[in-house]
Amino acid sequence: MKWVVGLIAAGLYLCLQSHVNAEPRLSRTLIERAVMEAKATVDSAYEYSRRESIERVKRNLASPADVLRLMKQPVGRGRIAVRAADYMDNTLTLIKSSLGNRQKRSINATDLISEEDLQIIADLTGCSARHRVPSCKTTPNLDRFRTSSSVCNNRKNERMGSSNTPITRWLPAEYQDKISLPKGWDPRRRVNRRFLPLVREVSNKILHTTVVDSDPLYTYLLTFFAQWTDHDLSFTPHSPVIRSFSSGIDCDKSCDRTEPCFPVEIPRQDPRFGRNSEECIPFFRSAAGCGSGNTGHLFGAPTVRQQMNTLTAFVDVGQVYGSDEAKARLLRNLTSDKGLLKVNTEYNDNGRELLPFEKKSTNMCATRARITGDNNATEVPCFLAGDERSNENIALTSIHTLGLREHNRLARALAKLNPHWNGERIYQETRKIMGALFQILTYRDFLPRIVGPDAINKFLPTYPGYDEEVDPGISNVFATAAFRFGHLMIQPFMFRLDEKYTAHEKYPTVLLHKAFFTPWRVVFEGGLDPIVRGMVARKAKLTTQKHMLTDELRERLFKFTAELALDLGALNMQRGRDHGLPGYAKWREFCRLSVPRNRRDLRRVMQNRTLANSLMDLYRTPKNIDVWLGGASEPLVRGGRVGPLFACLIATQFQKIRQGDRLWWENTGVFTEDQRESLKKTSLARIICDNTGITKVPQQPLENQPRSRFTKCSDIPAIDLSPWKEDIN
Ligand SMILES: *[C@@H]1O[C@H](CO)[C@@H](O)[C@H](O)[C@H]1NC(C)=O
Repeated sequence: MKWVVGLIAAGLYLCLQSHVNAEPRLSRTLIERAVMEAKATVDSAYEYSRRESIERVKRNLASPADVLRLMKQPVGRGRIAVRAADYMDNTLTLIKSSLGNRQKRSINATDLISEEDLQIIADLTGCSARHRVPSCKTTPNLDRFRTSSSVCNNRKNERMGSSNTPITRWLPAEYQDKISLPKGWDPRRRVNRRFLPLVREVSNKILHTTVVDSDPLYTYLLTFFAQWTDHDLSFTPHSPVIRSFSSGIDCDKSCDRTEPCFPVEIPRQDPRFGRNSEECIPFFRSAAGCGSGNTGHLFGAPTVRQQMNTLTAFVDVGQVYGSDEAKARLLRNLTSDKGLLKVNTEYNDNGRELLPFEKKSTNMCATRARITGDNNATEVPCFLAGDERSNENIALTSIHTLGLREHNRLARALAKLNPHWNGERIYQETRKIMGALFQILTYRDFLPRIVGPDAINKFLPTYPGYDEEVDPGISNVFATAAFRFGHLMIQPFMFRLDEKYTAHEKYPTVLLHKAFFTPWRVVFEGGLDPIVRGMVARKAKLTTQKHMLTDELRERLFKFTAELALDLGALNMQRGRDHGLPGYAKWREFCRLSVPRNRRDLRRVMQNRTLANSLMDLYRTPKNIDVWLGGASEPLVRGGRVGPLFACLIATQFQKIRQGDRLWWENTGVFTEDQRESLKKTSLARIICDNTGITKVPQQPLENQPRSRFTKCSDIPAIDLSPWKEDIN
């Protein structure tokens, strides 16, 4: 009986197949018209969004949602890729609806359109160009220096690990429609036979805390080093549009779910929004990568929607140098042939360099009058750096500035050592050293304190050598969930300290939400030193199951005045659903950890009855727990600052980034033996000493120490650059 059914099914399948194959080619005119119309729709939505953004920022009406959106704008090459994807997506929608009228049943657009026609559409929209493989034959010095985009790092698969490619997945996506709609798009649809709770409700019940525990071992620098490292590895852009393509409504004026709007619904009786709020927290979907979703199979990519990473996967200090050629050039000082990066020509910090200003029509960093209430206050533009998010908070801005200063310091020293080097050579050699320094700081000093010794022994023992088969690509679960562990380590404050490491009289510690997008605090409020002291002499927030996410991030994210502030916890979970990430239980299984199936199991995994109960009351099954939340809820591993799931996911990612990097600092031929010995002397302490006015620091600035044990800068070893002196004979 069974095989009869099977045979019929197979026959039906073949019949459908031949039907699809027999799909007549569309006329070239129809395609061209659809592409033209789609381009017009997309361009006008882009233009509307651009003008609206400028207008709001000009009138000082930029809301917290605007700020997040503007920060997540794709720029340069990323923007071109996102627009091409939007063209293609909209073209297919148009063709689908025109064909749909002729079909009885609506099928996926791609089933109605032949391969050849899809290829034509991809060509016309610019989507094909994204997938053309670049030529590495003509690029010079590939064995010595990284390209800006890291294209050609892998010689067999030239795009591997490079910027502006789709983000990698370690487990298949789980979308509501199996192709591209987020989980929970339709809230009445069950997932694993249960309804998904509203992310804001989960945030209110699980994350909410007004109490903060401080870390007994680690400083606040650990928190910001995590953010800094994250910004070297991944950036997932939004589409730049702020209103729905199909209905034209503004995403932040409506609770409707319509691409790219996926607003966060407010539960009844929300503590901030009150009863029966009609409001939503605006949320924009991450842009689809070109040639994914409906069209992915064209390029051999999986057929579901993928997001993009506009950064390179490698630890290569892209936050300082940029992740594509155009950005890299923009950041360089090319008026003198000295291999320097551009600095600020209007202001300096007690004679030390500051980041240059961004030249943009929208200045979302003009926050001074709004925060201080002084309408005559001088505003400054945002700083320009390798990553778009350098102004997000002033601690991060300070690390960016340290990176810039260290580059210029090393460049000047190398120029003295090798007067015959031109600017290009100095720049490349300096950038290469900087890459090595931050690889060492990340793997030697930072990671062990996060994932603990067991994960290091398991995933990151001594360097095994380069393996070109290893895909270093940043995985979706790492970028969207695991590496967001740092959010739980953020204090509600930005500390500022004076020369004696006591509270700064003139520039006191401020609440965190008054330190978002405030480059003017760096320019006018004592420069880097008070902020850097605050990071090395104040503690990180400790992640505990009781006190998870400070209300500065849950209730006041990007709030400058009275507008609707964002909730970082809710956003993280909504983002996971937007990206179709599988739930908590699947990721436990991926990591070969015990898989909780019910309340009792979950209590054991969490080692916390109350928390496990609250999670089960909300989700009903461990399968559905949003993976960021599940991972963040676990008790910490021995000697680390994340639970077992995040320790596994983070260590796995960093293992791949190391092993799949042809230019990893320990790989043979990258540096000489002497150079490697020299590089190992690097320390965060020395970098702070060399680039600020600070004269005493903790020897290990990630570790909390009493002030009496701080070390004089003159006692901290520096790296010796003599192995870089080139014999000119
Ligand atoms: C470029 O370098 C020159 C020489 O060091 C310096 O005078 C100039 O101010 C720099 N320009 C920028 C924008 O950094």
